[in-house]
Amino acid sequence: MRLYTAKDYNDLSRKAANLLSAQIIMKPWCVLGLATGSTPIGTYDQLVEWYRKGDLDFSEVTTVNLDEYKGLPADNDQSYHYFMHKHLFDRVNIKEGNTYLPDGMEEDPEKECSRYARLINRLGGVDMQLLGLGHNGHIGFNEPDEAFEKEVHCVDLQERTIEANKRFFASADDVPKQAYTMGIKTIMQARKIVVIVSGEEKAEIVKKAFWGPVTPKIPASILQMHNDVTLVADEAALSLIG
Ligand code: F6R
Repeated sequence: MRLYTAKDYNDLSRKAANLLSAQIIMKPWCVLGLATGSTPIGTYDQLVEWYRKGDLDFSEVTTVNLDEYKGLPADNDQSYHYFMHKHLFDRVNIKEGNTYLPDGMEEDPEKECSRYARLINRLGGVDMQLLGLGHNGHIGFNEPDEAFEKEVHCVDLQERTIEANKRFFASADDVPKQAYTMGIKTIMQARKIVVIVSGEEKAEIVKKAFWGPVTPKIPASILQMHNDVTLVADEAALSLIG
């Protein structure tokens, strides 16, 4: 694992954007695996800035996202489709037809999971996967478990997650109860992985995930077994690493 220590969130965003842009420059037709959440927003802003300066071209890039809520249409402002358009796709010259996320409106999990897994294979796999890290060590929607979930699958969201998301919806009943996500095997098949982590409240889990034993109880710990992982974390997130 390579470790890039960033001074703060802005520095982290620049370092992560540098890695993604290097990938795009070296292979303009690359497949990027993308994440949502609060951590990548600065990275996407930085990529947009470089695109506007004329330093980056997304015209041949393809993206596949990690996950999407089941039951939310793309135009719902809580959907990951909406997030990706707002923070990246609508701000650069990527072709709409080259951006992929699981289809939250497909009711049949088996059908949607195998469609998305086949799609990733058809694209030739992911060249560089960007990941955030959940407080409990989750990556994508792969929550702590007794075993590592393998391929694209449908997850029941934990009560805690539903509770935490309630504030974004009219009522708890409107919060999606399930999501589609790439599995651990899908993520591990990416040729390169970049994990971004910011803030002191992630310090404990960063230590466990990257300096502790590999266990499905901390899904991100499996990343220690990947041969091309770069952890980009700010000093606050690394404060417990000696
Ligand atoms: C997002 C995703 C999640 C987040 C994780 C960290 O697509 O799959 O695993 O990366 O929950 O979220 P933030 O960045 O908001 O701390």
